[in-house]
Amino acid sequence: MTISRRKFITNIGAATLAAQLSSNAFAIAAKRTGLKEYYADDFKIGAAIGGQILNGNAELEALLVREFNSISPENCLKWESLRTADGGWKWSDADKYVDLGMRNKMYIVGHCLAWHSQVPNSVFKNASGDYVSAEELKKKMTDHITTVVGRYKGKIQAWDVVNEAIGDETGNPMRKSHYFNILGEQFIDHAFYVAHETDPAAHLMYNDYGTERTGKREACIALLKRMKERGVPVNGVGIQAHLHVDEPGVEELEKSIVDFASLGLRVHFTEFDMDVLPNIWKIPVADISTRFEYKPERDPFKDGLPKDMEEKLALRWESIFKIFIKHRDKIERVTTWGISDDGSWLNNFPIRGRTNYALLFDRKHQPHEAYNKLLALRK
Ligand code: XIL
Repeated sequence: MTISRRKFITNIGAATLAAQLSSNAFAIAAKRTGLKEYYADDFKIGAAIGGQILNGNAELEALLVREFNSISPENCLKWESLRTADGGWKWSDADKYVDLGMRNKMYIVGHCLAWHSQVPNSVFKNASGDYVSAEELKKKMTDHITTVVGRYKGKIQAWDVVNEAIGDETGNPMRKSHYFNILGEQFIDHAFYVAHETDPAAHLMYNDYGTERTGKREACIALLKRMKERGVPVNGVGIQAHLHVDEPGVEELEKSIVDFASLGLRVHFTEFDMDVLPNIWKIPVADISTRFEYKPERDPFKDGLPKDMEEKLALRWESIFKIFIKHRDKIERVTTWGISDDGSWLNNFPIRGRTNYALLFDRKHQPHEAYNKLLALRK
């Protein structure tokens, strides 16, 4: 069979192109060293970092840089970490945090500008124990927010502006925090306006826990609608997603993604982790003041995670990430609250001193089975 010169040339071209393509595919696969590359076309993969890394841990930092392309500050940008008793500033850890993100070209998140926890009472009350005036609190907020957001303008790309303003009582009314008691809901608007004026390019979020569940989800949607009606510059919503291995169901998470996105907001999973220990309180808990007593039966895996639990955990992470992938167009980022189990706050919350397995890497910084499942979803 003879082959025309033109066809011959075309065939050669196609073969070369195919060879080039497969070498590109090979190059891409070879570059896919961590989760962040596997999910590069879906959403950012983040981790919260705390003292473990900020105090200097090269091995853990290498793991962070290999796997994640976004960071969140576990504590160093909270009011009580940043401010001295007389209202001065302590920048050392926050600067280290931002430098780390800049060096590694990461999407750097700020957390958080107005929250009822980890902020001293002296912000809200004067020496005689009375509330400060609305004007005085607004002024303190303006001063705090312009200074922090201004210092990291153009570096911190997204801010949890207000954290956890919705309560957990029946009907999920607004939380009766000091902020709310003094200013009403306008404390939220004020925080957003000041953050936006200080860094107009920053992506501004409202962040809360339990909003992956019916009840608090609807209260959050109602709040976001009110904010939007008032013209508040909110760009995204943070679903903390402190989940349990047994609940809530993935359909609950899916509903939150769809409903929040329908408000025209980007969806961020901001504090994702998975509690595997007995949930004796049977309610979603994440208010950091909640405490329960230690009992050995509440700490069943202190000598290691049984094989069947490791598998159950892996399937749970996989089923949730399948939903995330399905809604990748709505999701900006999935951030785990820590890197490895040894650093997870869930070893101490809501009971101190337990052994939890909440993250993708274990106490030796090796991947859990869940990690392999997440890679396999994108292979
Ligand atoms: C937690 C930190 O992980 C702990 O180290 C600290 O002791 C308490 O706060 N919701 C939030 C986070 O928004 O800031 C909290 O972080 C976890 C719950």
